[in-house]
Amino acid sequence: MDFADLVRDFAVLREDFPMLKQKMHGKPLIYLDSAATSQKPQCVIDAITNFYTQHYGTVHRAIYELSLHATKEYQEVRKRAAKFLNAALPEEIIYTRGTTESINLVAFSFGKAFVQAGDEVIITEMEHHSNIVPWQMMCEARGAVLKVVQINAQGELLLDSLAKLLTKKTKIVAVAHVANSIGTINPIKEIARMVHQADAKLLVDGAQAAPHIPIDVQDLDADFYVVSGHKIYGPTGIGLLYGKKALLDAMPPYQGGGDMIETVTFAKTTYNTLPMKFEAGTPMIAEVYGIGAAIDYLEKIGLEKIQHWEHELLLYATQVMQQINGLHIIGTAASKGSIISFNVEGIHPLDLGTMLDLKGVALRTGQHCAQPIMQHFKIGGTARISFGLYNSKEDVDAFIVALKDVIKVFR
Ligand SMILES: Cc1ncc(COP(=O)(O)O)c(C=O)c1O
Repeated sequence: MDFADLVRDFAVLREDFPMLKQKMHGKPLIYLDSAATSQKPQCVIDAITNFYTQHYGTVHRAIYELSLHATKEYQEVRKRAAKFLNAALPEEIIYTRGTTESINLVAFSFGKAFVQAGDEVIITEMEHHSNIVPWQMMCEARGAVLKVVQINAQGELLLDSLAKLLTKKTKIVAVAHVANSIGTINPIKEIARMVHQADAKLLVDGAQAAPHIPIDVQDLDADFYVVSGHKIYGPTGIGLLYGKKALLDAMPPYQGGGDMIETVTFAKTTYNTLPMKFEAGTPMIAEVYGIGAAIDYLEKIGLEKIQHWEHELLLYATQVMQQINGLHIIGTAASKGSIISFNVEGIHPLDLGTMLDLKGVALRTGQHCAQPIMQHFKIGGTARISFGLYNSKEDVDAFIVALKDVIKVFR
């Protein structure tokens, strides 16, 4: 698709996002923090509003029309989510509260089923705290050892470091598909091959990948793949956990309560089958409607097209930022998602963020829930811009003008 067509199509799509018409401090909002959370298209807002105003009812619990309707949609969205990630079966998709809960679920439940004292778990230096702390907690509970794959100066995973860490004791490897702090896209298929050769399992943190690139969990050969609804243009409070059926079947429930049971007596409880075994209690029904609308929206546009557009924005912004004196980009991997972390000599990222906010530019500053990678680069934090499908070259230009103005104040 040629560039002019992309510009035209994405300018039209931007109109779907009411928040982007807001002003900040009297200036047009330039939203460059989609890695933290994405803005919502009207169709997602409408799906949630329509549910609450016209169809509201609970799922799985009643035979009246409202409940039957909600239950049907709740399960239909699961089928669409399975198709979105190319899972083989709908029951391989578990609704969770987000990436964080998905990883905690796997760490707890996989740990209980498969990890013994002395076993090993591998993560990487570039993980979000959500893909570090649950594994530390699991290792502590199970008496297992946590190992960490190193990265190079560009912020790329050292696959020979992974090869050395994989042993007969490795039970699971957890790695980001795209690093939220610096944007590196990791070679998941290659990693999956190495992990499976060692007879271990692979969890892929897809929080920063699913909104931006087509995901095919079967082609990647991920054992688990996790996604946050609010980053794929859906609501907060919902996420997806994909897991291979045989593994999920072998894992114990994460939480006990309604819906996850088959029979309950005081003597013994038996558990429901997948996916309900992992969905205890009244679930996030409106959020399921919302994520369903977000998935439909993304599929209608096409993830390949979104990837193409955001890559153009990445290249353009990188090229103009590189020309700014004293600006250093952290993370220069050959394969990058639409995230640019940077520092400007002599300016604290928090000051940068505060002053850019006054000019209407929303970007993230700090450690991006990834303190270990900041320690790797020996920095206290960065400023970070990240793109969503609604961003444009004009957003980049406006950001650059604002950034140069801020830099002038400090020089
Ligand atoms: C790579 C990565 N993993 C995990 C998370 C946690 O996601 P959530 O807060 O939606 O659970 C994030 C959020 O920024 C992330 O970027």
